[in-house]
Amino acid sequence: MTQQLWTEVDHYLTDRLVHSDEALESALQNSAAAGLPEISVTPNQGKLLYLFALASGAERVLEIGTLGGYSTIWLGRALPPRGRLVTLEADPHHAEVAQANIARAGLAERVEMIVGPALETLPKLVERRLPPFDLTFIDADKVPTAEYFAWSLRLSHVGSLIIVDNVVRQGGVADAASDEPSVVGMRRLFDALADEPRVTATAVQTVGSKGHDGFVLALVTGEVD
Ligand code: SAH
Ligand code: DHB
Ligand code: MG
Repeated sequence: MTQQLWTEVDHYLTDRLVHSDEALESALQNSAAAGLPEISVTPNQGKLLYLFALASGAERVLEIGTLGGYSTIWLGRALPPRGRLVTLEADPHHAEVAQANIARAGLAERVEMIVGPALETLPKLVERRLPPFDLTFIDADKVPTAEYFAWSLRLSHVGSLIIVDNVVRQGGVADAASDEPSVVGMRRLFDALADEPRVTATAVQTVGSKGHDGFVLALVTGEVD
């Protein structure tokens, strides 16, 4: 009953405020047809990412966890023509599906996809000495999220935003006794955030068509290098 209501409300909100289009719809359809798990951000969450990127004036975006590129398209659309998005994906099949979806959305020029486990590709990204990212969206496997956050911080500047998906896990995050690996992983993230003087952060619970979850929003306020 509750989940049904959350889903109905999400559909209502999305119908009123979130204009989908061919590129976004086909990204979801192609991903499902290719057997990818249906765990993309919802349309209203995708638009929230887009609005965070637009409002912060982000020109360089990092995404950890591409899947079929649905969130990539939302974030990529917030960029100015000279903007760049780097997205990291471990699964070559996901990466291939995403690449086609991103190209169909007209974003191939702005998006660089790096295929490989993020704990291997993030150090290489640091070695490239690229300009720092203005916004990072962390949404890959959940256990090493604290490590992804640490790497994201190294790739940020004062004023960068770091957004982390799936930090509530149906409420599991509040259970200190949980041995569920993603819950343990997210509690490590919150410990790292609580001890980190270079960021100021909050977290918000969400309900909707993907159930009960939440996200972290962290602003980098202290020098990171
Ligand atoms: N951001 C996407 C959803 C990502 S789902 C969206 O909202 O549209 C999580 C993705 O992270 C999956 O595609 C999975 O293959 C990928 N992933 C899992 N482990 C990873 C790792 N170690 N490094 C990089 N990506 C990983
Ligand atoms: C899972 C991953 C996600 O990124 C998400 O938004 C929901 C669920 C998962 O791995 O279960
Ligand atoms: Mg997610």
